[in-house]
Amino acid sequence: MPTPVQNSILMVEDEEVMRAILRQLLEVAGYDVFTASSAENAMQIFSENDISITLTDIKMSGKDGLELLDQIKSIDAEAMVIIMTAYSSVDTAVAALRKGAYDYVTKPFVNEDLLQTIKNAVTQRRLFNENRFLRRELRGRYDFSEIVGKSDSIQRVFNLVNKVAGTNANVLIQGETGTGKELVARSIHFNSERSEAPFLAVNCGALPESLLESELFGYTRGAFTGAVSDKRGLFRSAAGGTIFLDEIGDMPAVLQVKLLRALQEHEVTPVGASHPVTFDARIIAASNKKLESEVAAGRFREDLFYRLNVVEIDVPPLRDRRDDITLLVKHFVAKSVREQGAGERTVAEKAMASLVNYDWPGNIRELENVIERAVILSADEIKTDSLPSKVSASLTPDKNAGHLTLNELEKRYVGEILTTVNDDKAQAASILGIDLSTLYRKLKKYGEV
Ligand SMILES: Nc1ncnc2c1ncn2[C@@H]1O[C@H](COP(=O)(O)OP(=O)(O)OP(=O)(O)O)[C@@H](O)[C@H]1O
Ligand SMILES: [Mg+2]
Repeated sequence: MPTPVQNSILMVEDEEVMRAILRQLLEVAGYDVFTASSAENAMQIFSENDISITLTDIKMSGKDGLELLDQIKSIDAEAMVIIMTAYSSVDTAVAALRKGAYDYVTKPFVNEDLLQTIKNAVTQRRLFNENRFLRRELRGRYDFSEIVGKSDSIQRVFNLVNKVAGTNANVLIQGETGTGKELVARSIHFNSERSEAPFLAVNCGALPESLLESELFGYTRGAFTGAVSDKRGLFRSAAGGTIFLDEIGDMPAVLQVKLLRALQEHEVTPVGASHPVTFDARIIAASNKKLESEVAAGRFREDLFYRLNVVEIDVPPLRDRRDDITLLVKHFVAKSVREQGAGERTVAEKAMASLVNYDWPGNIRELENVIERAVILSADEIKTDSLPSKVSASLTPDKNAGHLTLNELEKRYVGEILTTVNDDKAQAASILGIDLSTLYRKLKKYGEV
């Protein structure tokens, strides 16, 4: 959360004695206090520091408190400003509230009252920040700036997402494992009018049939042993949101029938219930098996396939959009560095070339893992020796591609260990179970010292 550990107060007051008294009061209460003797001075402090609350006198020589309020609000509309005023000028205080001041206190004030007002403002500000943080995080995660890709094929996917987000059409997302199907599903939801309602995902291949049925459609109390209370099921819990049916190709045949009926009738029957109930959910399904082939093989119902496949989005595998690999590598390096709190990393040309060249059976997820590992194993520069050998070998087009000689293997292994221990040769030798002089001999043989 972006809340500072200690809340800071900017106190603006042109009387020196008053400033001293207030400073003492606020510091004892645990605040970090900045003081200013004029509005001009206050603006400077405000713009240079992370101020939680501004406490300002109204009547000051030069610009007054109301003008200061205006200026502060013009650079931070959410700033918390508390006005101090004399009994005689409560009207001005009311004007200040209209201009967006959080509250006012009348002078002379009771210390406890002032501190309480400040405390309320701090709480309000924290709640506001948390909300803003959560909203931004949600948006950040699913807005397109986090979905990387410039290639024509992925741009086509983004365009489709944009188009279908505004509709209620069922969507079928197909693509190999790790290509970003779930990310696409989430961005449809979070860019749609349903975004404030839940996005509920279920993996249709991961649950046995009876569990999957009650997960989807719910059950009534007493429907079976152990059903001690009603369960709503995803269809009803979605309540205006989106249901993501992942690995739909693995849905058992009996449930395929029930799902088809639900989609046709817009209602579901919880296990043990005598009447169906309606639901409001948009359906997005995903499959890493080609669903057409599953239909052809008789493993997936054709009628359900057409129901789900109102809009089809095919997410292309990474090997068909190599243009995106460089971008994705940079994106994941930055992400990894941020998450691990590590120092910046550059990627050596040769390492980048092998990343682009490799075939990526596990697609973006695999690429992300490889980069995360490389950031851990490398110092400033990611070189081929911090990539898995199958990746770095993608550049060696000889008949042994993908295979390493024993010497090569040894050399890489030693290299990896050395990187892990920050080139501490003694430690590396002990991990490798050889003595230091043997390690030096080997390094000399590899041409590394
Ligand atoms: N275009 C992209 N830009 C950035 N990150 C991406 C992109 N596509 C996918 N990712 C990331 O790659 C990982 C895999 O994506 P996701 O889980 O959506 O794939 P999937 O197709 O659902 O995989 P699976 O078939 O294995 O379930 C996630 O961490 C996701 O955030
Ligand atoms: Mg997935």
